[in-house]
Amino acid sequence: MIRSLKKIARPILEKLGLLTPYDQPDNRETIFNALTRLKPTLHGHRVLEIGPKDGKDSHRLASLKPETLVMMDIPAQYTQNITSSSRTPRESIPSWFQAIPLPGKFYQEGNILYLSPEALTALGHFDLIWCTGVLYHNPEPLRFIKRLFHLLKPGGLLILETSLTRHPVLKHHNCVEILWPKSQLCLRVGEDDHRLIQSTVVPDTQQSLSIQSNVSHLPSRQAVLSWLEMCGFEDISEIATPIPDNLRMGLSARKGTFPGHTYSNRGPNPSPYAIGDSL
Ligand SMILES: C[S@@+](CC[C@H](N)C(=O)[O-])C[C@H]1O[C@@H](n2cnc3c(N)ncnc32)[C@H](O)[C@@H]1O
Repeated sequence: MIRSLKKIARPILEKLGLLTPYDQPDNRETIFNALTRLKPTLHGHRVLEIGPKDGKDSHRLASLKPETLVMMDIPAQYTQNITSSSRTPRESIPSWFQAIPLPGKFYQEGNILYLSPEALTALGHFDLIWCTGVLYHNPEPLRFIKRLFHLLKPGGLLILETSLTRHPVLKHHNCVEILWPKSQLCLRVGEDDHRLIQSTVVPDTQQSLSIQSNVSHLPSRQAVLSWLEMCGFEDISEIATPIPDNLRMGLSARKGTFPGHTYSNRGPNPSPYAIGDSL
């Protein structure tokens, strides 16, 4: 309630000059700066960007002059911007693509989670995968991370950024908030409102990100780290970002040697339960 009032009042007060316009902290730029500290240049590198959407990070990645930059986003007809009231249909090749000054740029439509194994092989292997704001839209997060692992060259670098559960209890555990309306008993309404409510089947745009309809799973911070380790990532290092309250996390990780394909809650010990090496 207070949050909704603030949302309505802020633009009016800003227009009247009674409030300084609020600058959204640029999370993506901070993460890009962290990448440049790890890799000041991408010369000779093959880079995959998943979910470029508006191309802002594509421009940043192109400025590091990789040999190849493959940008993959899901087919335009399946995309609508549900974070605003207006739909923003994308063309097959988004308009920002032409402006990217890089000879080795490619734009490809496809859902990285459900590309056929043949299409995945055809993409080749990459020195760097840049994947921000994408994981929590995908209903099979472990499989998604396995695919990122598969697509990297040995020692390749992953930059991953994701939204996290805001649930006041779940965020402290190694678990995932599944956003499925029929089974959703409680979700918080907004960032500064800890009231738990019943989820609605038709999302209300005023409600928090965790109720928007294109978000399927919101993991806890610990869950993201666990998934990466389970898939064989090493040197996992969190990137400090300007987003407060652990609402999101950014990290870098390297492809290590896959430790095996079995899952045990005691760690990577042999067990009859396989994560599986299928893609
Ligand atoms: C919230 S936007 C993030 C945009 C930008 N990367 C950022 O960090 O702000 C999510 C983007 O990822 C794309 N996306 C989500 N899942 C995907 C998948 N499995 N394969 C390819 N693109 C995906 C969506 O279509 C959308 O353009």
